[in-house]
Amino acid sequence: MGETGKTQRISQEDIGRQLRFCEKLRELNEARPGGPPLACVQTYGCQQNVADSQRLMGMLRDMGCGFTQDPGRAEIIVINTCAIRENAEKKVFGVVGQLVHAKERNPDLTICLCGCMAQQETAAARIRASYRHVDLVFGPQALWRFPELLFEVRTRHKRVFSIAQERGAIAEGLPVVRESSVKAWVSIMYGCNNFCSYCIVPYVRGRERSREASDILAEIRSLVEDGVREITLLGQNVNSYGKDLDSPMDFADLLEEIDAIPGDYLIRFMTSHPKDAGRKLFDTMARCSHVAKQLHLPVQSGSSRVLRAMNRGYTREQYLEKAAYARSVMPELVLTSDIIIGFPGETEEEAMETISLIREVRYDALFTFIYSPRPGTPAASLPDTVSRAEKQVWFDKLLEEQNRISGELHRAYVGRRLRVLVDGESGDEQWPLSSRTHGGRLVHLRGDASLIGQYVDAEILDSNTWALFGAV
Ligand code: 5AD
Ligand code: SF4
Repeated sequence: MGETGKTQRISQEDIGRQLRFCEKLRELNEARPGGPPLACVQTYGCQQNVADSQRLMGMLRDMGCGFTQDPGRAEIIVINTCAIRENAEKKVFGVVGQLVHAKERNPDLTICLCGCMAQQETAAARIRASYRHVDLVFGPQALWRFPELLFEVRTRHKRVFSIAQERGAIAEGLPVVRESSVKAWVSIMYGCNNFCSYCIVPYVRGRERSREASDILAEIRSLVEDGVREITLLGQNVNSYGKDLDSPMDFADLLEEIDAIPGDYLIRFMTSHPKDAGRKLFDTMARCSHVAKQLHLPVQSGSSRVLRAMNRGYTREQYLEKAAYARSVMPELVLTSDIIIGFPGETEEEAMETISLIREVRYDALFTFIYSPRPGTPAASLPDTVSRAEKQVWFDKLLEEQNRISGELHRAYVGRRLRVLVDGESGDEQWPLSSRTHGGRLVHLRGDASLIGQYVDAEILDSNTWALFGAV
Protein backbone atom coordinates (compact mmCIF):
# COMPACT_ATOMS: atom_id res chain seq x y z
CA MET A 1 0.00 0.00 0.00
CA GLY A 2 1.02 3.61 -0.24
CA GLU A 3 2.09 2.50 -3.71
CA THR A 4 2.71 5.50 -5.93
CA GLY A 5 4.89 4.77 -8.96
CA LYS A 6 4.69 6.63 -12.21
CA THR A 7 1.31 7.93 -13.28
CA GLN A 8 0.43 7.10 -16.85
CA ARG A 9 -0.77 10.15 -18.77
CA ILE A 10 -2.79 9.53 -21.89
CA SER A 11 -1.14 11.30 -24.81
CA GLN A 12 -2.98 14.00 -26.73
CA GLU A 13 -2.70 11.77 -29.79
CA ASP A 14 -4.64 9.04 -28.02
CA ILE A 15 -7.28 11.53 -26.85
CA GLY A 16 -7.42 12.88 -30.41
CA ARG A 17 -8.06 9.36 -31.64
CA GLN A 18 -11.05 9.10 -29.31
CA LEU A 19 -12.35 12.44 -30.53
CA ARG A 20 -12.13 11.09 -34.09
CA PHE A 21 -14.31 8.15 -33.00
CA CYS A 22 -16.81 10.77 -31.81
CA GLU A 23 -16.68 12.29 -35.30
CA LYS A 24 -17.23 8.90 -36.95
CA LEU A 25 -20.18 8.21 -34.68
CA ARG A 26 -21.55 11.67 -35.45
CA GLU A 27 -21.48 10.81 -39.16
CA LEU A 28 -23.28 7.53 -38.49
CA ASN A 29 -25.79 9.31 -36.27
CA GLU A 30 -26.49 12.07 -38.77
CA ALA A 31 -27.13 9.50 -41.51
CA ARG A 32 -29.88 7.82 -39.48
CA PRO A 33 -33.36 8.08 -40.94
CA GLY A 34 -34.84 9.54 -37.76
CA GLY A 35 -32.03 12.07 -37.27
CA PRO A 36 -29.48 12.10 -34.41
CA PRO A 37 -30.43 9.93 -31.44
CA LEU A 38 -31.27 10.96 -27.91
CA ALA A 39 -29.05 9.72 -25.08
CA CYS A 40 -30.11 9.19 -21.49
CA VAL A 41 -27.34 9.21 -18.86
CA GLN A 42 -28.36 7.95 -15.42
CA THR A 43 -25.95 8.45 -12.55
CA TYR A 44 -25.75 6.63 -9.21
CA GLY A 45 -23.39 7.19 -6.31
CA CYS A 46 -20.89 9.88 -5.50
CA GLN A 47 -19.91 13.26 -6.95
CA GLN A 48 -17.03 11.66 -8.84
CA ASN A 49 -19.63 9.70 -10.79
CA VAL A 50 -21.56 12.91 -11.45
CA ALA A 51 -18.37 14.47 -12.80
CA ASP A 52 -17.63 11.36 -14.88
CA SER A 53 -21.16 11.47 -16.33
CA GLN A 54 -20.59 15.06 -17.41
CA ARG A 55 -17.57 13.83 -19.41
CA LEU A 56 -19.62 10.97 -20.91
CA MET A 57 -22.25 13.52 -21.91
CA GLY A 58 -19.55 15.69 -23.45
CA MET A 59 -18.48 12.75 -25.62
CA LEU A 60 -22.09 11.91 -26.50
CA ARG A 61 -22.73 15.52 -27.48
CA ASP A 62 -19.69 15.38 -29.77
CA MET A 63 -21.23 12.25 -31.32
CA GLY A 64 -24.19 14.41 -32.26
CA CYS A 65 -26.56 13.09 -29.58
CA GLY A 66 -29.27 15.09 -27.91
CA PHE A 67 -30.25 14.34 -24.31
CA THR A 68 -33.36 13.14 -22.53
CA GLN A 69 -34.09 12.18 -18.93
CA ASP A 70 -36.65 9.66 -20.15
CA PRO A 71 -35.10 6.27 -20.93
CA GLY A 72 -38.25 5.41 -22.90
CA ARG A 73 -37.33 8.03 -25.52
CA ALA A 74 -33.60 7.27 -25.66
CA GLU A 75 -31.66 5.37 -28.32
CA ILE A 76 -28.57 5.22 -26.11
CA ILE A 77 -28.84 4.59 -22.38
CA VAL A 78 -25.75 4.95 -20.19
CA ILE A 79 -26.00 3.80 -16.58
CA ASN A 80 -23.13 5.05 -14.45
CA THR A 81 -23.12 2.76 -11.43
CA CYS A 82 -21.92 2.68 -7.83
CA ALA A 83 -20.56 -0.31 -5.90
CA ILE A 84 -19.99 1.21 -2.48
CA ARG A 85 -22.81 -0.75 -0.77
CA GLU A 86 -24.96 -3.69 -1.74
CA ASN A 87 -28.08 -1.50 -1.95
CA ALA A 88 -26.55 0.64 -4.67
CA GLU A 89 -25.90 -2.50 -6.71
CA LYS A 90 -29.34 -3.95 -6.15
CA LYS A 91 -30.92 -0.76 -7.40
CA VAL A 92 -28.87 -0.89 -10.60
CA PHE A 93 -29.66 -4.55 -11.27
CA GLY A 94 -33.35 -3.64 -10.89
CA VAL A 95 -33.09 -0.75 -13.34
CA VAL A 96 -31.07 -2.77 -15.86
CA GLY A 97 -33.47 -5.72 -15.57
CA GLN A 98 -36.39 -3.46 -16.49
CA LEU A 99 -34.63 -2.33 -19.67
CA VAL A 100 -35.07 -5.76 -21.24
CA HIS A 101 -38.57 -4.68 -22.33
CA ALA A 102 -37.30 -1.45 -23.87
CA LYS A 103 -34.76 -3.46 -25.85
CA GLU A 104 -37.47 -5.83 -27.07
CA ARG A 105 -39.49 -2.86 -28.31
CA ASN A 106 -36.47 -1.23 -29.89
CA PRO A 107 -33.66 -3.60 -30.91
CA ASP A 108 -31.57 -0.58 -32.00
CA LEU A 109 -31.39 0.64 -28.42
CA THR A 110 -27.79 0.65 -27.12
CA ILE A 111 -27.46 -0.02 -23.39
CA CYS A 112 -24.17 0.85 -21.69
CA LEU A 113 -23.18 0.15 -18.11
CA CYS A 114 -20.16 1.86 -16.60
CA GLY A 115 -18.81 3.05 -13.27
CA CYS A 116 -17.62 1.17 -10.21
CA MET A 117 -20.02 -1.77 -10.38
CA ALA A 118 -19.03 -2.49 -13.96
CA GLN A 119 -15.41 -2.83 -12.85
CA GLN A 120 -16.27 -5.57 -10.34
CA GLU A 121 -15.69 -9.01 -11.75
CA THR A 122 -18.68 -10.65 -10.08
CA ALA A 123 -21.12 -7.96 -11.20
CA ALA A 124 -19.72 -7.90 -14.74
CA ALA A 125 -19.99 -11.69 -14.94
CA ARG A 126 -23.63 -11.51 -13.89
CA ILE A 127 -24.33 -8.88 -16.57
CA ARG A 128 -22.55 -10.99 -19.17
CA ALA A 129 -24.54 -14.11 -18.35
CA SER A 130 -27.99 -12.90 -17.33
CA TYR A 131 -28.47 -9.39 -18.72
CA ARG A 132 -27.78 -10.07 -22.35
CA HIS A 133 -29.53 -6.91 -23.49
CA VAL A 134 -26.62 -4.84 -22.14
CA ASP A 135 -24.33 -4.00 -25.07
CA LEU A 136 -21.35 -2.27 -23.50
CA VAL A 137 -19.74 -2.62 -20.07
CA PHE A 138 -16.69 -0.57 -19.05
CA GLY A 139 -15.06 0.46 -15.79
CA PRO A 140 -14.06 3.95 -14.60
CA GLN A 141 -10.52 3.46 -15.83
CA ALA A 142 -11.72 2.97 -19.41
CA LEU A 143 -14.00 6.02 -19.41
CA TRP A 144 -11.79 8.01 -21.78
CA ARG A 145 -12.12 5.21 -24.37
CA PHE A 146 -15.92 5.36 -24.41
CA PRO A 147 -16.10 6.66 -28.03
CA GLU A 148 -13.99 3.79 -29.35
CA LEU A 149 -15.93 1.20 -27.34
CA LEU A 150 -19.27 2.55 -28.49
CA PHE A 151 -18.05 2.64 -32.08
CA GLU A 152 -17.14 -1.03 -31.80
CA VAL A 153 -20.62 -1.89 -30.48
CA ARG A 154 -22.31 0.12 -33.20
CA THR A 155 -20.29 -1.12 -36.16
CA ARG A 156 -19.56 -4.73 -35.19
CA HIS A 157 -22.92 -5.43 -33.62
CA LYS A 158 -21.46 -7.37 -30.73
CA ARG A 159 -21.29 -6.93 -26.99
CA VAL A 160 -18.16 -5.23 -25.67
CA PHE A 161 -16.70 -5.65 -22.16
CA SER A 162 -13.76 -3.46 -21.18
CA ILE A 163 -13.17 -4.27 -17.54
CA ALA A 164 -9.55 -5.42 -17.33
CA GLN A 165 -7.87 -4.37 -14.08
CA GLU A 166 -5.70 -1.36 -14.81
CA ARG A 167 -3.73 1.00 -12.61
CA GLY A 168 -5.65 3.81 -14.23
CA ALA A 169 -4.34 6.85 -16.05
CA ILE A 170 -4.92 10.58 -16.39
CA ALA A 171 -6.80 11.73 -19.48
CA GLU A 172 -6.87 15.48 -20.18
CA GLY A 173 -8.90 17.27 -22.80
CA LEU A 174 -12.09 15.20 -22.80
CA PRO A 175 -15.19 17.22 -23.69
CA VAL A 176 -17.67 17.99 -20.92
CA VAL A 177 -21.30 19.02 -20.55
CA ARG A 178 -21.65 21.13 -17.40
CA GLU A 179 -25.14 20.95 -15.99
CA SER A 180 -24.99 24.21 -14.07
CA SER A 181 -23.54 27.61 -14.89
CA VAL A 182 -23.24 28.37 -11.16
CA LYS A 183 -21.46 25.29 -9.82
CA ALA A 184 -18.87 22.93 -11.26
CA TRP A 185 -16.95 19.83 -10.26
CA VAL A 186 -13.24 19.58 -10.94
CA SER A 187 -11.50 16.26 -10.39
CA ILE A 188 -7.97 16.80 -9.13
CA MET A 189 -7.04 13.17 -8.64
CA TYR A 190 -8.43 9.71 -9.22
CA GLY A 191 -8.22 6.39 -7.44
CA CYS A 192 -7.36 5.47 -3.88
CA ASN A 193 -4.41 3.70 -2.24
CA ASN A 194 -5.79 3.54 1.28
CA PHE A 195 -7.47 0.15 1.24
CA CYS A 196 -9.75 0.77 4.20
CA SER A 197 -10.72 -2.81 4.99
CA TYR A 198 -14.45 -2.37 4.19
CA CYS A 199 -14.08 -0.38 0.98
CA ILE A 200 -14.31 -1.50 -2.65
CA VAL A 201 -13.10 1.80 -4.14
CA PRO A 202 -9.37 0.99 -4.37
CA TYR A 203 -10.24 -2.18 -6.28
CA VAL A 204 -12.48 -0.51 -8.83
CA ARG A 205 -10.96 2.94 -9.26
CA GLY A 206 -7.32 1.93 -9.44
CA ARG A 207 -4.25 3.59 -7.97
CA GLU A 208 -4.01 7.20 -6.83
CA ARG A 209 -3.03 9.55 -9.60
CA SER A 210 -2.99 13.33 -9.70
CA ARG A 211 -3.70 15.75 -12.48
CA GLU A 212 -0.94 18.27 -13.17
CA ALA A 213 -1.52 21.47 -11.21
CA SER A 214 -1.22 23.51 -14.41
CA ASP A 215 -4.15 21.61 -15.95
CA ILE A 216 -6.28 22.04 -12.82
CA LEU A 217 -5.46 25.75 -12.60
CA ALA A 218 -6.26 26.31 -16.27
CA GLU A 219 -9.63 24.58 -15.88
CA ILE A 220 -10.52 26.61 -12.80
CA ARG A 221 -9.42 29.86 -14.41
CA SER A 222 -11.69 29.21 -17.37
CA LEU A 223 -14.62 28.28 -15.10
CA VAL A 224 -14.18 31.49 -13.11
CA GLU A 225 -13.99 33.49 -16.35
CA ASP A 226 -17.27 31.85 -17.40
CA GLY A 227 -18.88 33.11 -14.20
CA VAL A 228 -18.99 29.84 -12.24
CA ARG A 229 -19.28 30.74 -8.54
CA GLU A 230 -18.67 27.50 -6.75
CA ILE A 231 -16.09 24.91 -7.67
CA THR A 232 -15.79 21.64 -5.81
CA LEU A 233 -12.47 19.83 -6.12
CA LEU A 234 -12.96 16.09 -6.21
CA GLY A 235 -10.82 13.14 -5.24
CA GLN A 236 -11.31 9.96 -3.25
CA ASN A 237 -8.70 11.36 -0.91
CA VAL A 238 -7.68 14.89 -1.89
CA ASN A 239 -5.01 14.96 0.83
CA SER A 240 -2.97 12.50 -1.21
CA TYR A 241 -2.88 14.99 -4.07
CA GLY A 242 0.51 15.44 -5.70
CA LYS A 243 2.33 12.43 -4.25
CA ASP A 244 2.81 11.00 -7.73
CA LEU A 245 3.75 14.23 -9.53
CA ASP A 246 7.22 14.80 -10.99
CA SER A 247 7.51 18.13 -9.18
CA PRO A 248 6.08 17.33 -5.77
CA MET A 249 3.35 19.52 -4.38
CA ASP A 250 0.73 18.79 -1.77
CA PHE A 251 -2.95 19.60 -1.55
CA ALA A 252 -2.46 22.67 0.64
CA ASP A 253 0.00 24.08 -1.95
CA LEU A 254 -2.57 23.46 -4.66
CA LEU A 255 -5.28 25.28 -2.68
CA GLU A 256 -2.93 28.23 -2.23
CA GLU A 257 -2.30 28.43 -5.99
CA ILE A 258 -6.00 28.18 -6.80
CA ASP A 259 -6.78 30.86 -4.23
CA ALA A 260 -4.52 33.28 -6.11
CA ILE A 261 -6.88 33.19 -9.13
CA PRO A 262 -8.80 36.47 -8.96
CA GLY A 263 -12.61 36.51 -9.01
CA ASP A 264 -15.77 36.14 -6.97
CA TYR A 265 -15.94 32.40 -6.37
CA LEU A 266 -15.64 29.75 -3.65
CA ILE A 267 -13.61 26.55 -3.62
CA ARG A 268 -14.85 23.47 -1.81
CA PHE A 269 -13.28 20.04 -1.82
CA MET A 270 -13.94 16.44 -0.92
CA THR A 271 -13.04 13.99 0.44
CA SER A 272 -10.28 14.46 3.01
CA HIS A 273 -8.82 11.48 4.78
CA PRO A 274 -8.11 12.41 8.42
CA LYS A 275 -4.82 10.55 8.46
CA ASP A 276 -3.37 12.95 5.85
CA ALA A 277 -5.21 16.12 6.89
CA GLY A 278 -2.92 18.19 9.04
CA ARG A 279 -2.23 21.62 10.40
CA LYS A 280 -0.77 22.86 7.14
CA LEU A 281 -4.06 22.15 5.37
CA PHE A 282 -6.19 23.78 8.06
CA ASP A 283 -3.93 26.85 8.26
CA THR A 284 -4.07 27.18 4.49
CA MET A 285 -7.87 26.88 4.47
CA ALA A 286 -8.09 29.55 7.16
CA ARG A 287 -5.83 31.92 5.20
CA CYS A 288 -7.31 31.52 1.70
CA SER A 289 -10.33 33.75 1.16
CA HIS A 290 -11.66 31.73 -1.79
CA VAL A 291 -11.63 28.50 0.18
CA ALA A 292 -14.95 27.70 1.87
CA LYS A 293 -14.74 27.07 5.58
CA GLN A 294 -16.22 23.66 5.10
CA LEU A 295 -14.61 20.32 5.76
CA HIS A 296 -15.91 16.84 5.09
CA LEU A 297 -13.65 14.73 7.31
CA PRO A 298 -15.03 11.18 7.49
CA VAL A 299 -14.30 9.62 10.87
CA GLN A 300 -16.14 6.30 10.19
CA SER A 301 -15.99 5.22 13.85
CA GLY A 302 -15.38 6.67 17.30
CA SER A 303 -13.64 3.54 18.58
CA SER A 304 -9.87 3.30 18.16
CA ARG A 305 -10.13 -0.50 18.07
CA VAL A 306 -12.62 -0.42 15.22
CA LEU A 307 -10.61 2.26 13.41
CA ARG A 308 -7.60 -0.05 13.52
CA ALA A 309 -9.67 -2.93 12.15
CA MET A 310 -10.86 -0.60 9.42
CA ASN A 311 -7.22 0.24 8.56
CA ARG A 312 -7.93 3.95 8.88
CA GLY A 313 -4.51 4.99 10.20
CA TYR A 314 -5.63 7.23 13.09
CA THR A 315 -7.08 6.88 16.58
CA ARG A 316 -10.13 8.53 18.09
CA GLU A 317 -7.86 10.90 20.02
CA GLN A 318 -5.84 11.88 16.94
CA TYR A 319 -9.05 12.59 15.04
CA LEU A 320 -10.46 14.72 17.86
CA GLU A 321 -7.21 16.67 18.06
CA LYS A 322 -7.35 17.43 14.33
CA ALA A 323 -10.99 18.47 14.42
CA ALA A 324 -10.31 20.73 17.41
CA TYR A 325 -7.35 22.35 15.67
CA ALA A 326 -9.37 22.93 12.49
CA ARG A 327 -12.10 24.58 14.55
CA SER A 328 -9.58 26.68 16.47
CA VAL A 329 -8.21 28.27 13.28
CA MET A 330 -11.64 28.47 11.57
CA PRO A 331 -14.26 29.20 14.24
CA GLU A 332 -17.04 29.31 11.64
CA LEU A 333 -16.05 25.93 10.14
CA VAL A 334 -18.86 23.66 8.95
CA LEU A 335 -17.74 20.12 9.70
CA THR A 336 -19.37 16.96 8.30
CA SER A 337 -18.48 13.30 8.38
CA ASP A 338 -19.25 9.75 7.24
CA ILE A 339 -20.02 7.02 9.77
CA ILE A 340 -20.27 3.27 9.39
CA ILE A 341 -22.28 1.41 12.00
CA GLY A 342 -22.00 -2.36 12.42
CA PHE A 343 -18.51 -3.02 11.10
CA PRO A 344 -17.82 -6.76 11.62
CA GLY A 345 -16.94 -7.39 15.24
CA GLU A 346 -18.12 -3.97 16.43
CA THR A 347 -19.68 -4.25 19.89
CA GLU A 348 -22.53 -2.18 21.25
CA GLU A 349 -20.05 -0.39 23.49
CA GLU A 350 -17.92 0.53 20.47
CA ALA A 351 -20.95 1.77 18.54
CA MET A 352 -21.78 3.96 21.54
CA GLU A 353 -18.22 5.34 21.40
CA THR A 354 -19.13 6.60 17.93
CA ILE A 355 -22.19 8.32 19.35
CA SER A 356 -20.10 9.88 22.10
CA LEU A 357 -17.66 11.13 19.45
CA ILE A 358 -20.36 12.84 17.43
CA ARG A 359 -21.61 14.47 20.64
CA GLU A 360 -18.14 15.74 21.27
CA VAL A 361 -17.46 16.99 17.74
CA ARG A 362 -20.99 18.29 17.08
CA TYR A 363 -20.95 17.84 13.30
CA ASP A 364 -23.20 20.06 11.24
CA ALA A 365 -24.36 17.00 9.33
CA LEU A 366 -23.51 13.33 8.91
CA PHE A 367 -23.72 10.72 6.19
CA THR A 368 -24.49 7.50 8.04
CA PHE A 369 -24.33 3.95 6.74
CA ILE A 370 -24.86 0.46 8.02
CA TYR A 371 -21.90 -1.71 7.11
CA SER A 372 -22.38 -3.61 3.87
CA PRO A 373 -19.94 -6.44 3.05
CA ARG A 374 -18.17 -5.95 -0.28
CA PRO A 375 -16.88 -9.19 -1.80
CA GLY A 376 -13.10 -9.18 -2.14
CA THR A 377 -12.44 -6.69 0.67
CA PRO A 378 -10.68 -7.91 3.86
CA ALA A 379 -13.62 -6.99 6.12
CA ALA A 380 -16.01 -9.16 4.12
CA SER A 381 -14.30 -12.30 5.47
CA LEU A 382 -14.38 -11.21 9.14
CA PRO A 383 -16.93 -12.89 11.41
CA ASP A 384 -20.00 -10.69 11.76
CA THR A 385 -22.29 -11.97 14.51
CA VAL A 386 -24.42 -8.93 15.33
CA SER A 387 -27.87 -9.09 13.74
CA ARG A 388 -29.07 -6.53 11.24
CA ALA A 389 -31.88 -5.62 13.67
CA GLU A 390 -29.43 -4.81 16.43
CA LYS A 391 -27.29 -2.71 14.10
CA GLN A 392 -30.42 -0.87 13.09
CA VAL A 393 -31.08 0.02 16.76
CA TRP A 394 -27.56 1.51 17.11
CA PHE A 395 -27.98 3.28 13.79
CA ASP A 396 -31.30 4.82 14.84
CA LYS A 397 -29.73 6.03 18.08
CA LEU A 398 -26.94 7.65 16.11
CA LEU A 399 -29.39 9.35 13.77
CA GLU A 400 -31.53 10.60 16.60
CA GLU A 401 -28.50 12.11 18.31
CA GLN A 402 -27.25 13.74 15.10
CA ASN A 403 -30.69 15.11 14.25
CA ARG A 404 -30.80 16.73 17.66
CA ILE A 405 -27.33 18.26 17.14
CA SER A 406 -28.06 19.44 13.57
CA GLY A 407 -31.35 20.91 14.77
CA GLU A 408 -29.58 22.84 17.53
CA LEU A 409 -26.83 24.12 15.25
CA HIS A 410 -29.39 25.18 12.66
CA ARG A 411 -31.52 26.99 15.23
CA ALA A 412 -28.48 29.08 16.15
CA TYR A 413 -28.54 30.52 12.59
CA VAL A 414 -32.03 31.97 13.01
CA GLY A 415 -31.92 35.76 13.16
CA ARG A 416 -28.48 35.95 11.52
CA ARG A 417 -27.70 37.60 8.20
CA LEU A 418 -25.51 35.51 5.92
CA ARG A 419 -24.03 35.81 2.47
CA VAL A 420 -25.36 32.94 0.39
CA LEU A 421 -25.02 31.83 -3.21
CA VAL A 422 -28.36 31.34 -4.92
CA ASP A 423 -27.85 28.18 -6.96
CA GLY A 424 -31.26 27.21 -8.29
CA GLU A 425 -34.93 26.72 -7.65
CA SER A 426 -36.10 24.64 -4.69
CA GLY A 427 -39.47 23.51 -6.04
CA ASP A 428 -41.09 24.82 -2.83
CA GLU A 429 -43.71 27.52 -3.34
CA GLN A 430 -43.13 29.25 -0.04
CA TRP A 431 -39.32 29.24 -0.34
CA PRO A 432 -38.77 29.09 -4.11
CA LEU A 433 -34.98 29.48 -4.26
CA SER A 434 -32.25 27.18 -3.08
CA SER A 435 -28.94 28.58 -1.88
CA ARG A 436 -25.85 27.65 0.11
CA THR A 437 -23.98 29.41 2.89
CA HIS A 438 -20.19 29.68 2.61
CA GLY A 439 -20.03 26.63 4.86
CA GLY A 440 -22.27 24.75 2.42
CA ARG A 441 -25.47 24.66 4.49
CA LEU A 442 -28.66 24.58 2.45
CA VAL A 443 -30.88 27.66 2.71
CA HIS A 444 -34.34 27.75 1.12
CA LEU A 445 -35.02 31.35 0.23
CA ARG A 446 -37.85 33.69 -0.53
CA GLY A 447 -36.77 35.73 -3.53
CA ASP A 448 -36.84 36.08 -7.27
CA ALA A 449 -35.43 33.55 -9.75
CA SER A 450 -33.41 36.36 -11.37
CA LEU A 451 -31.05 36.04 -8.38
CA ILE A 452 -29.82 32.59 -9.44
CA GLY A 453 -26.05 32.67 -9.80
CA GLN A 454 -25.61 35.63 -7.44
CA TYR A 455 -24.35 36.06 -3.92
CA VAL A 456 -26.98 37.76 -1.79
CA ASP A 457 -27.43 38.66 1.87
CA ALA A 458 -30.10 36.48 3.43
CA GLU A 459 -31.81 36.82 6.74
CA ILE A 460 -32.39 33.42 8.32
CA LEU A 461 -35.99 33.16 9.53
CA ASP A 462 -36.46 29.50 10.35
CA SER A 463 -34.69 26.14 10.42
CA ASN A 464 -35.18 22.42 10.75
CA THR A 465 -32.84 19.43 11.02
CA TRP A 466 -31.84 19.51 7.39
CA ALA A 467 -32.05 23.09 6.19
CA LEU A 468 -32.35 26.79 6.92
CA PHE A 469 -35.08 29.09 5.62
CA GLY A 470 -34.61 32.76 4.86
CA ALA A 471 -35.43 35.83 2.83
CA VAL A 472 -33.26 38.01 0.63
N1 5AD B 1 -20.39 -0.37 3.91
C1 5AD B 1 -20.98 0.75 4.39
N2 5AD B 1 -20.52 1.97 4.13
C2 5AD B 1 -19.40 2.08 3.36
N3 5AD B 1 -18.72 3.16 2.94
C3 5AD B 1 -17.69 2.73 2.19
N4 5AD B 1 -17.70 1.40 2.10
C4 5AD B 1 -18.76 0.96 2.83
C5 5AD B 1 -19.29 -0.33 3.15
N5 5AD B 1 -18.73 -1.44 2.69
C6 5AD B 1 -19.04 4.53 3.33
C7 5AD B 1 -17.89 5.20 4.07
C8 5AD B 1 -17.37 6.15 3.05
C9 5AD B 1 -18.61 6.51 2.29
C10 5AD B 1 -18.39 7.12 0.95
O1 5AD B 1 -19.30 5.30 2.17
O2 5AD B 1 -18.43 5.89 5.18
O3 5AD B 1 -16.75 7.29 3.63
FE1 SF4 C 1 -12.60 3.84 0.44
FE2 SF4 C 1 -10.92 4.45 2.47
FE3 SF4 C 1 -10.24 5.06 -0.10
FE4 SF4 C 1 -12.24 6.41 1.11
S1 SF4 C 1 -10.06 6.40 1.73
S2 SF4 C 1 -12.26 5.55 -0.99
S3 SF4 C 1 -13.16 4.84 2.40
S4 SF4 C 1 -10.49 3.01 0.77
